Parts: sequence; C-alpha cells; structure tokens
Amino acid sequence: MGWLTWQRFRCITDCEKYPDECISENLIKRMADIMLDEGYLEAGYNYVGIDDCWLEKQRDDNGRLVPDRNRFPNGMKAIADYLHKKGFKFALYQDYGNKTCMGYPGVLGHEATDIQSFVDWDVDYIKLDGCYVDTGKMDDGYPYFGKLMNESGRPMVYSCSWPAYQNKPNYASIANHCNLWRNWDDIQDSWSSLSRIMKWFAENQDDFAKYARPGQWNDPDMLLIGNFGLSLDQAKVQMAVWSILAAPLLMSVDLKTIRPEFKEVLLNRDIIAIDQDSLGRQGLRVWNKSNCEIWNRKLSDGSYAIAFVNKRDDGAPYAVKVSLDTMSIPKQAYEVQDLYKEEKPRSFGPGGDFETRINPSGVKFFKFIPKTSNEVKTDT
Ligand code: GLA
Repeated sequence: MGWLTWQRFRCITDCEKYPDECISENLIKRMADIMLDEGYLEAGYNYVGIDDCWLEKQRDDNGRLVPDRNRFPNGMKAIADYLHKKGFKFALYQDYGNKTCMGYPGVLGHEATDIQSFVDWDVDYIKLDGCYVDTGKMDDGYPYFGKLMNESGRPMVYSCSWPAYQNKPNYASIANHCNLWRNWDDIQDSWSSLSRIMKWFAENQDDFAKYARPGQWNDPDMLLIGNFGLSLDQAKVQMAVWSILAAPLLMSVDLKTIRPEFKEVLLNRDIIAIDQDSLGRQGLRVWNKSNCEIWNRKLSDGSYAIAFVNKRDDGAPYAVKVSLDTMSIPKQAYEVQDLYKEEKPRSFGPGGDFETRINPSGVKFFKFIPKTSNEVKTDT
C-alpha cells in the first residue's frame, strides 16, 4: 500500500507554472506529511513513490543516474531520509530499457551501477518498467535485475512491468522473481478504463490469479480514487474490486485537495483489511449476467468478501436475487455485513435468495461471516 506520483501527476516537470504539481522533492514531502497527519500511514499506506520523470536526461561522467537538479536539489538520499524518519518507505521508478517510457535514461547496460545508486540512496522499492527494450529480452533481463537486487544486500520490493509487455507471460517465472507485477495496460482516469481493466482481469483470471500470495501479487495498476474521472460510486467499485483481487493499493491523488467522501473510501479500514488479508488468496469473478457481476474472495478467518458490481448504466439501482451457489460460497448460515455500511447487518442462509440493489456503475460489498465460525466479529 502506498502513494505514487504517476496517475495524477504524470510527467509535470515545470515547477514554475505548476509548483504544487510538478514531480519534485516538494511534492513528495507535502504528500508524506499529509499521509502521516491524516491517518493514511496508520491505515497501512506506507510506501511513497516517485514514478517516471525524476531524472536528468544525461548520466554523470561516471555513468551514474542523476536526479533532476532543480526538482530534487538535495538528491534522493535526502528524500529517503525524510520519508524514513516519518515511518514511510521509499519507492522509485526506473525502466529496464535504454530509456524510461517518458524518455529519461533507463537501466539497460547499467544495471549494477544503478542498483548501487538505489542502495546508496536507501531505496526500498523499485518499479521497473519495460519501455525501449526488446520484449524478448525480458524473460532473462527481469530475473537478472532481480538477482542483482538480491545480491545488493538491501531488501527492496521488486515491481515488474514485465508481463504487461508480453503476449503470453510466463507467470510461473514472473511470480518467482517479482514481488508484484503489472499484468496489463495502463489505467487512465475514467470509468471506461477501469471497466476495461476489470473485464480483462476477469476474463484472464485463470492464467494468473493462482500465483498471488504473500510476497507476490498481480497488479491491476494505481487507484484512480479522488481524481477527476470517477464518481463516488465508481470509486467504491475500484476499492472493492482491488481488494478482492488482493491488489496493491497505490493511491495517486492530490491528498491536499481530495474531497472527504473519496478520502473515506481510501481509508475504509474494513476494506483495507480484506485487501491485506493474510491468506493472500486472490478472489475471482464468479458470476456475470445482464452486465452485473459477482466477485468472491475467500478470507483467512473463513469468511467471504462478496462484491456485486453493476456495470449497467440504465438508471435505477439494479435488483439482484441470488443463491449462495451463485455466489460460489458454501451453503451455511451467515452474518452479512455491508462494508460500505449502506445496508444494515443481516442474517442469511443456508437456503433462499440473497437480495440487494446496486447503483448504476456501482457496487454493493459484503462480508459473509459463517455463523459457526469462532471468529465471528460483531459490528461495533
Ligand atoms: C508506463 C507505466 C506507467 C507509468 C509510465 C511512466 O506507461 O505503465 O505506470 O510508470 O510508464 O512513463
């Protein structure tokens, strides 16, 4: 969990025109301060990361990477120190190719030197993108870079964009070498982009869901929540589905100006707990009918997270009536809690149909807690 620059701040580098938005030391410090002061760190968002566009266009005379001298006047170690002092970890972007996607120097041919820089700067997490390199090289190149990271002696999370650049990714190898991996296309700030990603993850889930577990995660990309493109209902959909997918929760939003109702979605502790469930099992889309879907994730305490996603855009909340079989959960009696607290807790099962209504491009997100389980939690 954490915060990354890209989705909201992209490659804004003109600090004179856009002082509050440019990729800079100032932006990172301001966001980290807010994350600490407003409960994001406490809720679990502990990585703060700089995506693309942090570099000078040229390496130095010794072939080393140089952070942009105007925007990062004190260098990267100063940022790491600032973040570490406040209890955060530091994430940084690079690219396996000759150049990053935005055209800054990439690591190819400089792997060992660059990892040494990351170690010197106390980096805790590397996102390694895959622009400007022959995709056929990745099956060897990403493991090689990971091996050098391990040999460096500094524990660093390894986020790979490797599968996103492959036609038929070798997920067994990817899961073996990376901690998280971007499976597919970039997310953009719209409901249509979010819907496409959910559709792709559902249709291809059998290829990769089984590889998710603690230390290795599928990554459907950053959270759009709080930005320009999603309604509140749509933001709730992303938070619910990402938590079913056991996805990294990487916010990318201006935390200074975010509206309170979106902040509330990002800080929903019950949903974060589902995302971070210790079993680490990725959930699946188990039902898809009339543009309405059910997503199901089994949790470590024996309960199930069930998301009803309504992709319809007709108008009125859509009513569904489904059995436990349809939701793919065992036939027994449950205490059902609404994770967004829109509906009152209720008992359900083992027989009969579960009824609920879902807003257009919205979600209803429930936790089904077996009544026989020792771990039944009452809603306080
Ligand atoms: C690629 C990645 C994005 C982002 C940009 C930066 O498109 O998939 O997540 O890192 O590069 O240029």
